[in-house]
Amino acid sequence: MMRCVALIPAAGTGSRVGDECPKQYLTLLGKPMLAYSIEVLINHPRIATVFVVVAPEDSWFERFNWSEFGSELQVVRVGGATRSKSVTRGLKAMGDAVSPDDWVLVHDAARPCLSNTLLDRLIAGIGEDDVGGLLACRIADTIKSADTHHRVIETRSRHGLWGAQTPQMFRRGLLERALSAVDSEEITDDASAVEQLGYQPLLIESEVENLKVTYAGDLRLAQTILESRRDNQ
Ligand code: C5P
Repeated sequence: MMRCVALIPAAGTGSRVGDECPKQYLTLLGKPMLAYSIEVLINHPRIATVFVVVAPEDSWFERFNWSEFGSELQVVRVGGATRSKSVTRGLKAMGDAVSPDDWVLVHDAARPCLSNTLLDRLIAGIGEDDVGGLLACRIADTIKSADTHHRVIETRSRHGLWGAQTPQMFRRGLLERALSAVDSEEITDDASAVEQLGYQPLLIESEVENLKVTYAGDLRLAQTILESRRDNQ
């Protein structure tokens, strides 16, 4: 069995949530959002190390205490201007510690509700697949495209459509090769870079609870999900 490591790009500076603080550091039940992703990944028995990519000028990371995670947490201050640049540089910063055949699970800091069950399902579902893959949800809503005035242009078929989530799990070598071949501005996830090389990543069915926090309402929803888990423990 190949080794797994995780890579969390956490070098975003903006916050559409409407706060000064970059969203990965927003407080959720007393902890920064980033801590939830680190925790679930670091506690998984197949994951050896969690690399977190922060921006070189980041002044937020050291305001929190991360010592509970020990040496399995590696912070690299190499974030770039786009998510895919941050991932590319994070992969490079792993150096010789990770081999080209090892699996890398790339997970957004903005998805704090990843559960251990979903992480298990991804790792087991990908197994030793030739390509790799990602967590994703079938689209349940009817999909409309609209003009700038919010007037509907057309209704699209949702047949066969999935919403991509993270973690996305690929071998380090393939991921590096894929990301070096794409336009970083165009790419919003790692799988699409792999697809551009002609591969077909495997979709592992996920749950909506693994939501991405983008707007203020998402933050409240994430809080409710994490609260209900804490209360059920
Ligand atoms: O902004 P968005 O939600 O798409 O960001 C997804 C993830 O990518 C977040 O964890 C964010 O911190 C990270 N990111 C990054 N470097 C950037 C932009 C975003 O690591 N330049």
